[in-house]
Amino acid sequence: MTALQIVLWVAVPYAAIAVFIVGHIWRYRYDKFGWTTRSSQTYENRLLRWGSPMFHIGILMVIAGHVVGLLIPREWLYAIGITEGIYHLGATGLGSFAAALTLAGLAILVYRRRTVGPVFLATTVMDKVMYVFLAVTLGFGTLATVFYQLLGPGFHYRETISPWIRSILIFQPDVALMAEVPLLFQLHVLSAFALFALWPFTRLVHVFSAPVGYLFRPYIVYRSRDAVRGARKPRRGWDPVQQPNPQRLHGL
Ligand code: HEM
Repeated sequence: MTALQIVLWVAVPYAAIAVFIVGHIWRYRYDKFGWTTRSSQTYENRLLRWGSPMFHIGILMVIAGHVVGLLIPREWLYAIGITEGIYHLGATGLGSFAAALTLAGLAILVYRRRTVGPVFLATTVMDKVMYVFLAVTLGFGTLATVFYQLLGPGFHYRETISPWIRSILIFQPDVALMAEVPLLFQLHVLSAFALFALWPFTRLVHVFSAPVGYLFRPYIVYRSRDAVRGARKPRRGWDPVQQPNPQRLHGL
């Protein structure tokens, strides 16, 4: 075990996780009103209407795949009948589809940000840095899946990367598990931890305030205002609102 391996597979992950947790607490305490997606929908909606759902549906599928592939030991999946073959069919098939959807969505969102004037003006330096790390992480993950799982012989990450990440989470890091992992996967994991360290300082914080309540709240009814007051006859069954008498208002 070399010093570099300890830095890469112990120090870097724990430092990133610490910055992720402490950074979110700090951001919430000192920048509560900046805790937002800083939505740009008001400037442009045609590209956003496609790019945003594609990116979000894709990334949610990618996250679900990571939870199953990384956090759940494969023996547990065998126990419920998900064999190695079934798992890889699902992981590679669905994973590749999810990756393509996410990357296509991201491409639309980045194109929109660059070409729509007001959206570009509302883009901060931190947004740009965040997009680079997001794209690099997605890119390495997709390349690793395509070269090793789809076109290549298949790499058994559930015997290496998955137990390693779980060893990190239970505070018993097993560095040796990462030693023989192919470079593309190593770069994917390291860029993911860099993204985690940046996370609290970007608009990715909105992930932790997803508007789930929106699905269950009562409707809000919007009505357009009449151009001329009193232009429309009051509906039957409702009395018109009385105009206040100015004399009574002034106590005369
Ligand atoms: C420490 C964190 C992470 C680890 C250990 C990890 C590990 C992996 C592994 C082993 C694969 C191959 C899956 C397969 O071929 O079946 C993969 C694929 C992928 N990863 Fe990650 N990943 C991490 C974080 C992320 C993050 C934060 C993103 C997105 C920003 C991401 C995006 C992807 C994508 C798009 C793929 C290809 C499609 C897929 O299999 O879902 N990963 N990752």
